[in-house]
Amino acid sequence: MSQKAKTAKESYVVMTELVLPNDTNTFGNLMGGRLMYWMDIAAALAAMKHCAAPVVTASVDNISFENPIKLGNVVHIEAKVSRAFNSSMEVHMKVWGEDAIQQYRYKSNEAYYTFVALDPNGRSRPVPQLVPETEEEKDLFESALRRRQLRLILGGKMKPSDATELKALFQL
Ligand SMILES: CC(C)(COP(=O)(O)OP(=O)(O)OC[C@H]1O[C@@H](n2cnc3c(N)ncnc32)[C@H](O)[C@@H]1OP(=O)(O)O)[C@@H](O)C(=O)NCCC(=O)NCCS
Repeated sequence: MSQKAKTAKESYVVMTELVLPNDTNTFGNLMGGRLMYWMDIAAALAAMKHCAAPVVTASVDNISFENPIKLGNVVHIEAKVSRAFNSSMEVHMKVWGEDAIQQYRYKSNEAYYTFVALDPNGRSRPVPQLVPETEEEKDLFESALRRRQLRLILGGKMKPSDATELKALFQL
């Protein structure tokens, strides 16, 4: 049975955390691993809102940390499904640091995580299609096909010769 398509904004989640001493490295910055853990939870919540089913993390794309987040600063993780495929969903995240005392915000990084919806027997199950509305959502939706092919090749799940979207990108 086909499921009703949902908009990207219906999956929108913001997670807010305060960076405490136990979250930091010896430079007093938030540890990358702790941030990736929080991002995993925020992204999983967005994916679950989209498909109304339990999900597992299938893959995490490369993450570049542009700016460190300091001890005592606030972390905001914005997560939204950027495209749904058959049983998998790509979630796009933007991560911001905030100095709540000096009152400024700065971008830390962006990332894509992929989740797969599972049925009660632990098998992958279909998810609703995603309808992008804003220009940014449409751009993310279009480019998601290329990112999917790249991650499936890197994960050994697709032959490079089958990656038509990626080939088109390099044959301009
Ligand atoms: C993710 C998982 C369910 C996929 O299992 P699978 O046997 O490859 O399942 P399927 O072949 O039916 O593929 C299901 C979906 O997973 C996607 N997928 C599989 N490997 C992937 C990868 N490395 N990156 C992105 N998506 C992937 C497939 O593209 C497919 O998506 P689609 O249905 O939208 O086309 C399975 O590998 C798993 O359970 N992994 C462990 C998840 C986990 O425990 N995560 C927490 C970290 S330990």
